[in-house]
Amino acid sequence: MMTSAEIRQLFMEFFRNKGHEIVPSAPIVVKNDPTLLFTNAGMNQFKDYFLGNKKAPFARVADTQKCLRVSGKHNDLEEVGVDTYHHTMFEMLGNWSFGNYFKKEAIAWSWELLTEVYKIPKDRLYVTYFEGDAAENLAKDEEAYNEWAKLVAPDRILPGNKKDNFWEMGDTGPCGPCSEIHVDCRSDEERKKISGAERVNKDDAQVIEIWNNVFMEFNRKKDSTLEPLPAKHVDTGMGFERLVRVLQGKQSNYDSDVFTGTLAAIEKITNKKYDASAKPPSEGGKPTEWLQAVAFRVLADHIRAISFTLADGQLPSNTGAGYVIRRILRRAVRYYYSYLDYKQPLLHQLVPVLAEQFKTVFPELIQQQDFVAKVIKEEEDAFLRTLEKGLKKIDEIIASTKNKIVNGSAAFELYDTYGFPIDLTKLIAKENNLDVDEEAFKAEMQQQKDRARAATAINAEDWVVLSENGSTSFVGYTETQTEAKVLKYRKVTAKGKTSFQLVLTKTPFYAESGGQVGDTGTLSFSGEEVAVIDTKKENDLIIHFVEKLPTNITAVVEARIDAARRARTAVHHSATHLLHAALRKVLGTHVAQKGSLVNDEYLRFDFSHFAKMTTEEIAKVEAIVNEKIRANIPVVIKELPKDEALKLGAMALFGEKYGDVVRVVVMDPAYSVELCGGTHVGATGELGLFKIKHESAVAAGVRRIEAISGLAAEQYIGEQLAQLHQVKEELKNPADLLKAIQNLAAENSEVKKKLEHLENRILVGVRNELLHKDEIINGVTFVGDIVEVGNADALKKLCFDLKNHLNDHVVVLCANIGGKPYVAVGVADTVAAARQLDAGKIIKEHIAPLIKGGGGGQKTLATAGGQDASNLQQVIEKVKSLL
Ligand code: ALA
Repeated sequence: MMTSAEIRQLFMEFFRNKGHEIVPSAPIVVKNDPTLLFTNAGMNQFKDYFLGNKKAPFARVADTQKCLRVSGKHNDLEEVGVDTYHHTMFEMLGNWSFGNYFKKEAIAWSWELLTEVYKIPKDRLYVTYFEGDAAENLAKDEEAYNEWAKLVAPDRILPGNKKDNFWEMGDTGPCGPCSEIHVDCRSDEERKKISGAERVNKDDAQVIEIWNNVFMEFNRKKDSTLEPLPAKHVDTGMGFERLVRVLQGKQSNYDSDVFTGTLAAIEKITNKKYDASAKPPSEGGKPTEWLQAVAFRVLADHIRAISFTLADGQLPSNTGAGYVIRRILRRAVRYYYSYLDYKQPLLHQLVPVLAEQFKTVFPELIQQQDFVAKVIKEEEDAFLRTLEKGLKKIDEIIASTKNKIVNGSAAFELYDTYGFPIDLTKLIAKENNLDVDEEAFKAEMQQQKDRARAATAINAEDWVVLSENGSTSFVGYTETQTEAKVLKYRKVTAKGKTSFQLVLTKTPFYAESGGQVGDTGTLSFSGEEVAVIDTKKENDLIIHFVEKLPTNITAVVEARIDAARRARTAVHHSATHLLHAALRKVLGTHVAQKGSLVNDEYLRFDFSHFAKMTTEEIAKVEAIVNEKIRANIPVVIKELPKDEALKLGAMALFGEKYGDVVRVVVMDPAYSVELCGGTHVGATGELGLFKIKHESAVAAGVRRIEAISGLAAEQYIGEQLAQLHQVKEELKNPADLLKAIQNLAAENSEVKKKLEHLENRILVGVRNELLHKDEIINGVTFVGDIVEVGNADALKKLCFDLKNHLNDHVVVLCANIGGKPYVAVGVADTVAAARQLDAGKIIKEHIAPLIKGGGGGQKTLATAGGQDASNLQQVIEKVKSLL
């Protein structure tokens, strides 16, 4: 039996022999494409080649790509674990032609690989082709049919509709008709009974699609029309886990060696057995046995999605890609908690198994194994803290649900208070034969969002293309200004504001990436100046953000960046590299970049490390960086093939997509070598000085440093010294400043103690005087006066003290302290009961309006403060009148 590693290897060798360049998988987390959160197909990283935005460096490539299909157009989450052949994360084997070969070769080669190399019996294979679609004005794919007819018997070539045989990446983007290959894994007996042709695309777990050959011809535009692409391409994707299962002769993907290691680890941890043959209750199986088997599959699947997305740099969070990971993780936790009876963090224990299994294919996991496990454990701990309560709550909700639908506000409460993602609530509801009113849930979510912030929806119109064939190039590494033309532009509305985005033929503007902010500057169209407020990348286009369009957009444009701002930014970028290397020296080589922001004011660097940095560590890091600055090391920047760069010891950032040729920034080959597309100083001496301002935690196992360099550091130190100078002057320039401050503080507390003592003595005197001013009104002792005290606290104290010396009493004391009125009211328990008098109420109802203020307290003692001190006498009269 071939192992999964051998099967993967054979695929690469086959296509290498057909002239394909083997390229690495792109990160699973997508950074530069606003239409996608995760890589959902092997072709994502090649989107620009299809659209004609960029020229492909190789006409033929092949790879295995980490994909995730749990959000957006392709979403398989609900199937995962319940069936045996859908996954969250999966590997997609693919071969591509960029304007090179087309249907004939693609079809012939896929057949050759499957039947001659992998030796899948031909009588188990079926193929499909696109039957056409009248509404889209698309013809039947005769060409694909004819190519298949050369290889396959006609009764195995099946037509398919737009849903199955017209592949689209998302709502917009490259697309085209496709041809799928399906395998019939049923027993001979079953195959005799019903032909496989009848089971294709019928959700039969034993008759499954393994390979899709897409013939890219169109771009789906925002207005949903199709426009032909500049050239025709091939995009194929074969589900690796399915292929392995077929070749290993298994009934389920989970029985192949891709998953058996993880399943065995779960068995060991939970002391339970995975029963691959457990049947769902609908087929007569026992519910507990079935759910236990599903739980095993869910864990074995989900841990892959979670680990690889974390290794590619995405941390769990409450929004976007981070929330997708959190949802997957919580779904897994609930499965082991409820169905494997395991009540502690489990998933993190599986990371080493995966890391070892994939160490040669996707080494990013083993290299960050401890970090990934730590983040997962922390997430598990957090969810386990509310899970129990949440499950009780959902039981109550289910018990009280009348019409078989869990209402939206209950689902929202589970989400908001117990951290249950909606799909988890839906899953549990479904297990109880209930639906969830998702619309109402969404409405509640929306309301919460609206409350929190105004909607940030961004609406971008289609590009207006001025020049079809123009290319775009970045000259900003060497130039700060250049002449160019506008290639295309579009209008964007966000938060009700309209702005425009421009793409130029040539630009010195650096687009935000690798943490470095985008350049700002001006575009001058025959003298008419348009300000560029930001520059960003979308796919590989450099987009200039402007608030208005010039009158003559086709004129030659002089593009000029704010060079001073760029220079200050470069200082912080070079400082970031020096910092990164110093951290690895001081803390260890487990330090890996987890996030970075570089602008003209400061730098922020997030990195994996498990403990708060000590003051000594921070000082050491600062000292190393400053030493490297004084050494005035030249910053050498080279473009090299990626392999060579890595050999040089370049620190690759996991989750970054690099081309075949990478840019390497070297500051002393023995100190700092990084892959980086950013802009830098010429030599480290230009940094002048480096200072760390803060060190803090951002997430489990991730620390953050905020630091400054260059002019910003000089200014900061200047401000700090000026402050120090002022302090010295205030203290009359003592010889020993610290000692002087300590003395001052000691004196101060001594004085305070004395003052308190004196105040107390005065208060005793005042109290004694007041005791002589009592009157009896309707049998109650009344004391009311305006007194002189230093603060509100003293007034309250005085009132309290007075009460202790009086029996059935009502006391009202007023003071004018610095122009503001303060009042304290005391009522004896006995009076409060007998006369229905309440000090708190008296304050609120009668006194607050008189002093234009407010306050409160107990029945027997309450206080107030206000703005108007002119009615204090009336306050006393008022309280008196209540008696
Ligand atoms: N892009 C095609 C798919 O993902 C191959 O199915």
